[in-house]
Amino acid sequence: MICSDYNFAYTRRRFLRPCLTPTEIRELEALEKLCYSPADRYDFRTLRMFLSLNGIGVLRYYEESLAERPLVAFHLFDCLNAELITLDVHPDFRGRGIGSLLLRLSLKKLKSLGHTRATCEIAVNNTVSLNVHKKLGFRPWRLLRNYYGAGRHAYLMRVNLNTIPD
Ligand SMILES: CC(C)(COP(=O)(O)OP(=O)(O)OC[C@H]1O[C@@H](n2cnc3c(N)ncnc32)[C@H](O)[C@@H]1OP(=O)(O)O)[C@@H](O)C(=O)NCCC(=O)NCCS
Repeated sequence: MICSDYNFAYTRRRFLRPCLTPTEIRELEALEKLCYSPADRYDFRTLRMFLSLNGIGVLRYYEESLAERPLVAFHLFDCLNAELITLDVHPDFRGRGIGSLLLRLSLKKLKSLGHTRATCEIAVNNTVSLNVHKKLGFRPWRLLRNYYGAGRHAYLMRVNLNTIPD
């Protein structure tokens, strides 16, 4: 099951109430811990800040075949700036197309909002993520030197949303 939540309000305020409950944010935090090293992951407060942004979108994938219906993946993206923030798939559920599915749905949403391009940053050595994004049309646009710390470079990736089917 996929849950889609958007935090949109017609106001100039940059921050609104978070669009997920503290318990739901803890679920995202638990996946961040499984997917990233301590220096690279978002903590509860940072996730809550993202989820409070006016214009944030979050897709969550729950595994229905298991009795406890755990959260196994989520995608966080900024619908105002067409920027992807983080994509997490539980290690036990990788390679099944879940990451690609969430990415495709997020890009469709951004396209439906009128954006023509979307961007994200990916570490140059994150081959799997680069592959997932390239398969959906992303291309390296700029090299961001030391983006993740000394010697840890990233690509600023960009996709033309006209190539994404409606
Ligand atoms: C990157 C990530 C989100 C991919 O999620 P996923 O659900 O496993 O991805 P998919 O199953 O949709 O895989 C899509 C493509 O990625 C590539 N891929 C997947 N697993 C791979 C692996 N172990 N090695 C190399 N390429 C791989 C393949 O090209 C695959 O396409 P194909 O199976 O049709 O050939 C997941 O590995 C993850 O959460 N990683 C840790 C966090 C992270 O790096 N997030 C992205 C930050 S920018």
